[in-house]
Amino acid sequence: MHLPSSDWSYSSLISFCCLFWRVSGSNPSLNSRPNIVLFMADDLGIGDLGCYGNNTMSTPNIDSLAREGVQLTQHLAAASMCSPSRAAFLTGRYPIRSGMSSSFNMNRDLLWLGGSGGLPTNETTFAKLLQQRGYKTGLIGKWHQGLSCASRNDHCYHPLNHGFDYFFGMPFSLLNECQATKTPEMHRALRIKLWISSVALGIVPILLLIPIFAGWFKIPWTVVIITALVAILFFASWYSSYGFIRHWNCILMRNHEIIQQPMKEEKVNSLILKEALSFVEKYKRGPFLLFMSFLHVHTPLVTKEKFVGRSKYGLYGDNVEEMDWMVGKILDVINKEYLRNSTLVYFTSDHGGRLESQEGESKLGGWNGLYKGGKGMGGWEGGIRVPGIFRWPTIIPPGRVIKDPTSLMDIYPTLSYVAGAMLPQDRVIDGKNLMPLLEGRVSHSGHEFLFHYCGIYLHAVRWHQKDCDTVWKVHYVTPKFQPEEGRACYWSGLCPCSGDVNYHDPPLLFDISRDPSEDHLLTPDNEGLYEAVIKRIETAVKEHRQTLMPVPQQFSVFNTIWKPWLQPCCGTFPFCGCDKEDDTLPTGL
Ligand SMILES: *[C@@H]1O[C@H](CO)[C@@H](O)[C@H](O)[C@H]1NC(C)=O
Ligand SMILES: *[C@@H]1O[C@H](CO)[C@@H](O)[C@H](O)[C@H]1NC(C)=O
Ligand SMILES: *[C@@H]1O[C@H](CO)[C@@H](O)[C@H](O)[C@H]1NC(C)=O
Repeated sequence: MHLPSSDWSYSSLISFCCLFWRVSGSNPSLNSRPNIVLFMADDLGIGDLGCYGNNTMSTPNIDSLAREGVQLTQHLAAASMCSPSRAAFLTGRYPIRSGMSSSFNMNRDLLWLGGSGGLPTNETTFAKLLQQRGYKTGLIGKWHQGLSCASRNDHCYHPLNHGFDYFFGMPFSLLNECQATKTPEMHRALRIKLWISSVALGIVPILLLIPIFAGWFKIPWTVVIITALVAILFFASWYSSYGFIRHWNCILMRNHEIIQQPMKEEKVNSLILKEALSFVEKYKRGPFLLFMSFLHVHTPLVTKEKFVGRSKYGLYGDNVEEMDWMVGKILDVINKEYLRNSTLVYFTSDHGGRLESQEGESKLGGWNGLYKGGKGMGGWEGGIRVPGIFRWPTIIPPGRVIKDPTSLMDIYPTLSYVAGAMLPQDRVIDGKNLMPLLEGRVSHSGHEFLFHYCGIYLHAVRWHQKDCDTVWKVHYVTPKFQPEEGRACYWSGLCPCSGDVNYHDPPLLFDISRDPSEDHLLTPDNEGLYEAVIKRIETAVKEHRQTLMPVPQQFSVFNTIWKPWLQPCCGTFPFCGCDKEDDTLPTGL
């Protein structure tokens, strides 16, 4: 076993330079820029797919991508929650660099479409790089990177301000509350009654103020405050039970226009597929970038009747299989238009499956295979190890499986390279160009260390030791499971990043190249290996921390609370609502 030595960093520097020159030298061999189709699932577990070893789930289309392309088995999300993971994906940088990671356990994702946080406008997404290189860029599906900064219609964080030429989908995220059946539409008469009673209740504390200010008689302030609180609570509770969240967060947009508020969730997936197919048809002369950001397989698992009951795993399995069918439909149009050889296709999930998603006995969340933990946990493998598949016939040799650690952040420099774009020079990019690895020209991705954050807190670090194939992983912080013997946070629904967690000093060490389930703890030994590894990683953490700059926090309490003046609204606020979508669908969708 090689131990880190003092001249070790010199040799790694030299080999890095060689790699760099080789890569840039081979650039001209790409004589044309490919079309790019990125599939991203929401909350899908790595163990849900046939090609990752699930022999009872039917995902033939995604499996065919893996067979015809390269399959990554140690592909890692930069965060285990949607908004930060997607921010890192779009920018090639750890979410902490853009302020897209949270210091609070309560708001680890953007919580309201009417909040003021989002992917900062001075971040440069891969869509923007490709747009500048003449690509037609489209985002279809979920965004969840914020919408407006200071006023309802400024749309500062909108996809169209982040390099996309076309957007169709949900600016927020699919939520349980988006389902009409869970939150019945309010009857008009009932709505009027409730408005009147809330206003009446709201007037009481104001009436109470009159005698105080007029000096007629004394009423204790606590009484006024309590009545006001009761009024607010009443308003909030009826409103939330009658579609508050659905009304404000579940909306459908085409470019800057709201086309459904609230969204009709039973048709949305068909509309998304229709849009994706027509995007390919429209821009088939290329080059185009289509980012197909699925609403699948997030709860409430909206699934077409045709697929309900098809899988062996209830509604969750049905939803996965429907998503696979949609992938197939898009691959079909690529084939039909003879674009197969000139299109780079990628498939991934934003993070691991959510173990706490259950309704009674039935499992509504993903399966993370042999990996421990899931969504919301920053360090354990199950929250961050996701599918990663690349297909580009004639360029990427088919049928290979690559075990080297890679990151979703790598998509950024990889796309920049294949499109012949320039990476921004004024900031740190954490991703690596994967083309040399995918083409089989090198055997390592170039990632030596990967830092695994939970919010802004560093929970774990992975070290791929250069001279051998060992991948070490240390955990400084791990979640406290509830109940203790469980493997997730069933009581709270989501594991916290700080506070009620386990701090490890000395840290936990695993050799995940031999123990991917993180079951066999390595302890200090006679040879001093444990100490040497921990020390080398500590130095890397120090160096990494020196590259972090303070930036505005997008998930601060102020940024995440709902602000009526930022709420996108179809109509006159607060009477928002519309349905402008012609939802007739071609047969077969
Ligand atoms: C396949 O996926 C389902 C659904 O998530 C899961 O319940 C099952 O355990 C998986 N099977 C295998 C062999 O991984
Ligand atoms: C794609 O490339 C393969 C291998 O070079 C070739 O046999 C095939 O005809 C190409 N297909 C198209 C549609 O160009
Ligand atoms: C974006 O702006 C913020 C706030 O002014 C600044 O801290 C940050 O460094 C900027 N980011 C980039 C990539 O320029």
